[in-house]
Amino acid sequence: MERSEKRKQRIRSVLSRRQYDAVVFLDSIRNPHNIAAIMRTCDAAGIQRLLYTSNGGVFSFSREISSGSEKWVDVEKVEEPAEVIKWFKKNGYRIYTTALLDESVDYRSVDWTEPFVLVMGNEVSGVSKEILELSDRVVKIPMYGMVQSLNVSVACGVVLYEVVRQREEKGMYQEKNFPEEIYKRWLRL
Ligand SMILES: C[S@@+](CC[C@H](N)C(=O)[O-])C[C@H]1O[C@@H](n2cnc3c(N)ncnc32)[C@H](O)[C@@H]1O
Repeated sequence: MERSEKRKQRIRSVLSRRQYDAVVFLDSIRNPHNIAAIMRTCDAAGIQRLLYTSNGGVFSFSREISSGSEKWVDVEKVEEPAEVIKWFKKNGYRIYTTALLDESVDYRSVDWTEPFVLVMGNEVSGVSKEILELSDRVVKIPMYGMVQSLNVSVACGVVLYEVVRQREEKGMYQEKNFPEEIYKRWLRL
């Protein structure tokens, strides 16, 4: 098979397994290595939309770590986080925010096969109060060590691979229709 035909087939196959109803939302994450690692994990887990807020900070990512994944994931800046979260809620998405709070539930107890927005928080201050208040559930990854939390990109990877596990079990990574406009865009990359 010709190289360009193989590439087209690969693009179709990847796009047909994307989880268009699963969104990752970064709330003021600053470290370029963390952002890049999350982009790469999103691509691997079939997440197409990665939203971020910058709250006046600089949003940049390490290309060495992202390994080109930024081309295949739609990275979108959010100016008004609360409005965007409310829009997702109105449109049937559940808002699952990661944080270690008293009311947090184990991330494995959530049904990740329903449409969702997964919110990850800033390296120091975590997720903003505004977004926490709009969340349907706050989820945690159990911690048994001396340090109180995981690195945010590691935490995102742990949760996203639970998403993969649950969605694989339901056959949600079987090939399906995909948006033609993304296919055309990817062909040009
Ligand atoms: C280093 S932690 C921030 C810790 C911060 N002191 C706080 O109060 O949230 C950065 C982000 O990683 C995620 N995170 C890290 N460890 C986690 C865990 N065990 N369970 C859930 N989320 C976690 C959350 O999104 C958190 O906002």
